[in-house]
Amino acid sequence: MAASFPSDALHFPANSRPFLEPYLPPEASEDGQIEAEKGEAQQEKNGNDSSRPYTTLTFATSLDSALSLAPGMRTVLSGPQSKAMTHYLRSRHQAILIGVGTANADDPGLNCRIEGVDGYKLSTVESNLQPDAAISDYAKKASSDPELRNLMKNVAMGRASTEQMQGFQSHLTQIQNTKHEENLEKLRREQEKLQQPRPIVIDPRARWGFHEGSKILSLVREGKGKAPFIIISKNVLPPKDKQELLEAYGGKFIAVETVQDVNGDTRFDWNTILRILATEENIKSIMIEGGGAIINSILSEPRYSALVDSVIITIAPKWLGQGGVVVSPKRLVDEDGCAIPASRLTEVQWHPFGEDVVLCGRIIKSQ
Ligand SMILES: NC(=O)c1ccc[n+]([C@@H]2O[C@H](COP(=O)([O-])OP(=O)(O)OC[C@H]3O[C@@H](n4cnc5c(N)ncnc54)[C@H](OP(=O)(O)O)[C@@H]3O)[C@@H](O)[C@H]2O)c1
Repeated sequence: MAASFPSDALHFPANSRPFLEPYLPPEASEDGQIEAEKGEAQQEKNGNDSSRPYTTLTFATSLDSALSLAPGMRTVLSGPQSKAMTHYLRSRHQAILIGVGTANADDPGLNCRIEGVDGYKLSTVESNLQPDAAISDYAKKASSDPELRNLMKNVAMGRASTEQMQGFQSHLTQIQNTKHEENLEKLRREQEKLQQPRPIVIDPRARWGFHEGSKILSLVREGKGKAPFIIISKNVLPPKDKQELLEAYGGKFIAVETVQDVNGDTRFDWNTILRILATEENIKSIMIEGGGAIINSILSEPRYSALVDSVIITIAPKWLGQGGVVVSPKRLVDEDGCAIPASRLTEVQWHPFGEDVVLCGRIIKSQ
């Protein structure tokens, strides 16, 4: 029987990978540990320290610096090769971070679909055709219960009365509910080992409207992704039903202190967020994917942009026009009050990818 990858798996060829390597965190070994020597070399190179993760800022933009056509509107920008690249980048990070604006707008999966990672391994058609677990359980029970066996036979042969059909349905629902609980319990236990990035959502006011049918939780049920960690403000109590749902899937709310930013808005301090993720959640590498408010928040203050180890931007050959979500951090002024650029990249490389171009670089840290 021929083995194949799932139809939604993405291929990113080995010969397209080397140019990205200098901008990526060290590769984790099979057991998830970063090879010590390589890790030290990379840490030295990036001035990284173990109190925060290796941090990559990455997003796709139009020629007019827009991420989407309008706030809350999902907009496809990059071509298929760049999309596969993004999933390859995800395979090289332990976590993916987005803002609640993106979570609400896109219903994102935030998993990695590169061929070979957990959920996207080679498999035979036969192994994909597993019988429904609840039906198998029912059949197992029926083998030692003549009454149940008779009921199943009548249902299968279309001879069951309405009453028998209702009995069969409620029995099946009961078994399905128990199976669902058992599956979630198993997925919770196995999540740490799952070779998939952890989704992190910045949601200070707990306004992300996720539910059982959200893509991110569907992927957890399918064993193709991890449940999200949601960073909320210490002053906010998340709704009880959301907290229960999140925890049932192995996710959680993480309450973090807020501070006043340069505009006087109540915001998280990125130093605190990254330190908590590294020291309390053992996250060694993170990819910050957007949206606009998240990226602008990081790039607007030199003490935050200094936390970014590398930047990987896909630029698509189109203009989205005015009114979109744009990356445009606050302009800085020097000591004489003159405007100066907000930030600049160094160690820059441009790499054409289909019709897109990928820009890699490092942010120059101000003195
Ligand atoms: N092209 C791409 O690569 C790409 C990638 C990602 C997203 N997108 C697009 O970007 C759009 C969403 O961008 P967006 O700017 O509207 O939303 P966003 O950046 O995803 O989320 C913004 C929200 O995050 C919270 N936030 C941001 N920085 C914070 C900080 N330092 N401290 C505390 N909270 C903070 C705030 O929540 P509160 O308002 O509750 O305080 C803010 O409103 C969508 O259309 C999406 O499709 C595109």
